[in-house]
Amino acid sequence: MLSVSHITLDGEATLCGVDRFPVVGWKIDSDRRDVLQRSWHLQCSTSADFSALIFDSGEVISAQSSNLELEVTPLLSSTRYYLRVRISDNQGESSGWSPSSELVTGLLDTPWRAEFISAESLSDKAESKATLLRNAFSLSPTKAIAAAWVHATALGIYQLFLNGARVGNDELTPGWTSYRHHLLYQTYDVTGMLNQGENVIGAELGAGWFKGDMGFSRHRNYYGEQTALLCQLVIQYDDGSRQVVGSDRSWRGSDSAREFAEIYDGERFDARRVQVGWSQTDFNDASWRAVSIVDWDNHTLKAQGAGTVRQMERLAAKALIITPQGDKVLDFGQNMSGWVAFRVRGKAGDKVVLRHFETLDANGNVYLDNLRTARQTTEYFLKGEGDETWHPRFSWQGFRYVKVEEFPGELDLSQFTAIVIHSNMAATGHFSCSNPELNQLHHNILWGLKSNFVDVPTDCPQRDERLGWTGDAQIFCRTASYLMQTQTFFAKWLVDLKADQTPEGGVPHVIPDILTGHCDQDKFLAEGGTHSATGWADAAVVNPWTMYLMYGDKRVLENQYASMKGWVDFMQTHSDNDIWRYKLQFGDWVALDAQEGSYFGATPEDLICTAWYANSTQLLAKTAKVLERTDDHRYYDALHERIVERFRQRFFTADGDMTARTQTAHILALCFNLVPDALRERTANTLVELLHQHDGHLVTGFLGTPYFCHALSQNQHPKEAWSLLLKDDFPSWLYQVKAGATTIWEHWDGIKPDGSMWSPDMNSFNHYAYGAVGEWLYRTVAGMEADETAPGFKHIVISPLPGGGLSWMDARYQSIYGDIAVNWQAQKGRVVLTFRIPANTTATVKLPAAREIITGGSLNFAHDNGEWSAHCGSGEYRVEYLPDESVDLTYTD
Ligand code: BGC
Repeated sequence: MLSVSHITLDGEATLCGVDRFPVVGWKIDSDRRDVLQRSWHLQCSTSADFSALIFDSGEVISAQSSNLELEVTPLLSSTRYYLRVRISDNQGESSGWSPSSELVTGLLDTPWRAEFISAESLSDKAESKATLLRNAFSLSPTKAIAAAWVHATALGIYQLFLNGARVGNDELTPGWTSYRHHLLYQTYDVTGMLNQGENVIGAELGAGWFKGDMGFSRHRNYYGEQTALLCQLVIQYDDGSRQVVGSDRSWRGSDSAREFAEIYDGERFDARRVQVGWSQTDFNDASWRAVSIVDWDNHTLKAQGAGTVRQMERLAAKALIITPQGDKVLDFGQNMSGWVAFRVRGKAGDKVVLRHFETLDANGNVYLDNLRTARQTTEYFLKGEGDETWHPRFSWQGFRYVKVEEFPGELDLSQFTAIVIHSNMAATGHFSCSNPELNQLHHNILWGLKSNFVDVPTDCPQRDERLGWTGDAQIFCRTASYLMQTQTFFAKWLVDLKADQTPEGGVPHVIPDILTGHCDQDKFLAEGGTHSATGWADAAVVNPWTMYLMYGDKRVLENQYASMKGWVDFMQTHSDNDIWRYKLQFGDWVALDAQEGSYFGATPEDLICTAWYANSTQLLAKTAKVLERTDDHRYYDALHERIVERFRQRFFTADGDMTARTQTAHILALCFNLVPDALRERTANTLVELLHQHDGHLVTGFLGTPYFCHALSQNQHPKEAWSLLLKDDFPSWLYQVKAGATTIWEHWDGIKPDGSMWSPDMNSFNHYAYGAVGEWLYRTVAGMEADETAPGFKHIVISPLPGGGLSWMDARYQSIYGDIAVNWQAQKGRVVLTFRIPANTTATVKLPAAREIITGGSLNFAHDNGEWSAHCGSGEYRVEYLPDESVDLTYTD
């Protein structure tokens, strides 16, 4: 049977608050094989029963089922639209209508009938207290409310309330963007929250990223000096009339019981100061103060339809530890970003003080040094009336452990729960296998993502940093996009990247950029500048291209094109005869071949810079081709060839060796196709030699590590790739796993084999960069590879690499077309491979390590270039083959 299981809008299931009609896609289900869509028919309506159509495509003969750009006009502001689709396929089947999908428009082009209002004054610049705003308003006592929406944002962090109830379930809104260019507003359906007659709307505001203390130099007021709310309530009555209630001078302000809230430092909340009923009608606000109006350029405002931070999971406290030093410590068993919620009973003024941290030291005592200046502390003063429950809301903590410094009464684990927060993204990846340590590594990679995708891609969630380091986001982008649907998340961040680029196209080290102009105390940045480091700035090119590969999203390439080109042009302007280098470079950051105590790996800067220059130029040339910018394509293609040529002249000796004998030099040269064909085998062999020099261990940093396994497996050394992945003594991925890590560490030697630690000045245990090996698990071990000529997995390359002594592996990736699944089992000397290809896609199956196909099912395998391969359409397939001698497996009967 043919059916459409669900529609996606800009890759999301629903959108609440959009400025323009989203791109549409859908997933097709069928129990047949080789299903391709023949036609589609889409309707859009303002009524759930589709009786009020505003768009009807009629039957369109086309196979396209993703990234459809439709001309649906005119759209009305603050209105809900329903979409549904039906299709027919190449086998003569037709589907019924799909379940409908919904989107709600934001304010579109209508001007805001509201102003930014603040309960703070300019003298509160240094204040980190939260404030409250409230406004009583009347709705018609007789007319019924058909629908009601609120559109809101803030300078700072806000939470909205209507008649005493919380609006929506987003956290840390409006998130962090380059506010002066790009400020997101959220839209909520509040239909059921209003009364005929009298109502009250309220908001609590905190300093957040906007005016709070940020960055390791601990500046504040990056974007402004007062928090402020912008909010517009739109009420639609039954009779078609509308009423608008906007934030304005008539609102009143007060201080909140949240006396202090800062992202790095935590919160102080005095429950005795809670003003009961402050956002309800029967509250007397006579003691509240007048609000002031804050000037802001409304052109910065953009609707955020999805991708906000949410409370995603809850974890129970696992253990109460009394440390050798006598501290009481809660262990949640998982490093994460979030809050501790607690239940407490005591006298008025009793105190709870919790200090959040990542790891115990070698003696089992509380280790706070790597948090640097971040206090990560919550303080709560009890009201003293029965059971009280509380958790922070205007900060977040990066932690696995919590030191309970004060707590009235006996401690009981059931009183504590950890609430995990991160940007709301659909989970798309699954990986499991017969090796439990590898499964734990996958878990740690996933939790690195969860912990660091908190509205922007951060380097780490715990110390006084939590910044959108471009390098980290670039390195991990592909892995992240296998694990979760990152399209909305990265599209948002890339808008800020573009906005914060220098006029010359240079890309700041962190996005949103808060380093420029604020780094006097940092010796590297003060001297070397705050933008344009190789491998970091290349996020401008790599991330949009990755979105295109994974989601077939051309719109992101169009939106980012000027930014991508700006960055490549910047490199060209500052290159010398096609060799590129520029001021401060992080290079192969924190590689183990660095000199003792240094962060900078041994691979020479000009080599790394030019390798990345070549790679980004090639991706830009490909982008120009996709966007049919023929002149640019030709230009950057030629530039790429020149850079490669120069790279070869400069970084290979006349004898055919690389000038730098580092692992990273060889990895980059191999993976970015910078090695002359004649030298490929030799370069790969040297890489293996360099690996053996360290007894099979890597000594690579941020830029070499992500490609290490690829460099080996793509160059006839799959066995070495597997052994590298499975090394479990220092330094290696599984060394961390064996040491009990639950997320990925920033340094290979974060905790050394003797229990001592890397210097506390930079030692996070929750950095996702080295988790970039996750991409090798999905692309190579499971072999679910995107084809750039048919992106978004429209054509899939299935090319698994069994090995590593495993007996089975099972992986799935929820692509925009549906589930791709690969499973291999080692049985009786054979590999049994089963895989699933979603409807409306095709695949090529390649079995690089197969000696002989025993059963190919319905697939016609051909042997070409030393490899068995076959083509197929959608459906499930089973193949059995004899692997060649390079494949190391543990067979079951
Ligand atoms: C961050 C990194 C970042 C690096 C660049 C560090 O402090 O945590 O992950 O990429 O600085 O210098």
